[in-house]
Amino acid sequence: MHVLILGANGFIGSHLSEAILARTDWHIHAMDLAEDKLATCLSHPRFHFKNGDMTKEKEWVSEQIKICDVVLPLVAVATPALYVQDPLRVFELDFEANLDIVRQCALYQKRIVFPSTSEVYGMCPDTEFDEEKSHLVTGPINKERWIYSTSKQLLDRVIYAYGGHKGLSYALFRPFNWYGPRLDNVFNPKPGGSRVLTQFIGNILRGENITLVNGGAQQRCFTYIADGIDALLRIIENKNDRARNRIFNIGNPKENISIRQLAERLIQLIVTHYPKYAAAAKSVKLIDMDAKAYYGDGYQDVSLRVPNINHAKTHLGWEPAVDMTDGLRKTLDFYLAS
Ligand code: UGA
Repeated sequence: MHVLILGANGFIGSHLSEAILARTDWHIHAMDLAEDKLATCLSHPRFHFKNGDMTKEKEWVSEQIKICDVVLPLVAVATPALYVQDPLRVFELDFEANLDIVRQCALYQKRIVFPSTSEVYGMCPDTEFDEEKSHLVTGPINKERWIYSTSKQLLDRVIYAYGGHKGLSYALFRPFNWYGPRLDNVFNPKPGGSRVLTQFIGNILRGENITLVNGGAQQRCFTYIADGIDALLRIIENKNDRARNRIFNIGNPKENISIRQLAERLIQLIVTHYPKYAAAAKSVKLIDMDAKAYYGDGYQDVSLRVPNINHAKTHLGWEPAVDMTDGLRKTLDFYLAS
């Protein structure tokens, strides 16, 4: 099988590339602007990489779509601070650039495995989000945070329509706060410059206090990257067509914790296991800040985000296996143990 990964140097793309090369005989055709996360893949004979911008290298991208069996367009902005700072970039990249890829998959009848997001459920009041029943609830237009959610949602709907009306074969997967090594750059000092876990690790490394937006009572189900990749491999493999034209929540409902608890657990783990950073971690204070002051007017938050994963259990035989203590230790080893 030949798999095209656009955005192979990203968090998901780099872990997926490694896993495909280690665990399958598939070929990977890949593009990204950078290659720093792909050190273990670049010289592999089944890894065919081109450094470039997929929005400019259109001819190359089309050629690869024609020769590949499955296409994963993973290029996207996925950091909430950027949704409110630069919403047009989110629309242009996450929506427009990917729409072009979706259309080509439909044209050349190639299977697409598309990264939807837990964000599509927005502020849905359900205690567990269901792929086929839950309502997708976003805020007013002046809450610009939702441009990411709605861009992804419209692409989900377009892909679903191509599936139903033009014979496109697809699978949509919705990561729920995947984390692990290589998530974001912890040396980015900008508040909101990365997702919450790497933001907090960076805060501790730099000896800064941790900011809890609106007090940190909001909850997330953190899912370790290896579990996510395990699900993704099953989706791409598509044994007996079991993933065909389905949507999968890929998250860990057992690891539902508040952002305040996340900060406390991180500090406690670092104090206990990473002596080099123990003093810095001990001196960190948790500071409350309202969302408007941290992100600006265009932000709105999600207070509870728990996936129902029955679909993935039934059709893929998948469930998460890595608990948060283990996952956080592996992540901290990557960022701190040097
Ligand atoms: C994320 C991002 O939108 C995407 O990465 C992705 O599509 C999706 O969710 C996912 O991975 O499932 P969110 O969980 O809100 O959204 O993003 P984070 O930046 O990781 O923030 C999590 C929570 O921590 C938010 O409530 C935020 O306000 C809070 N936070 C963040 C703080 O309290 N302090 C900080 O310094 C940063």
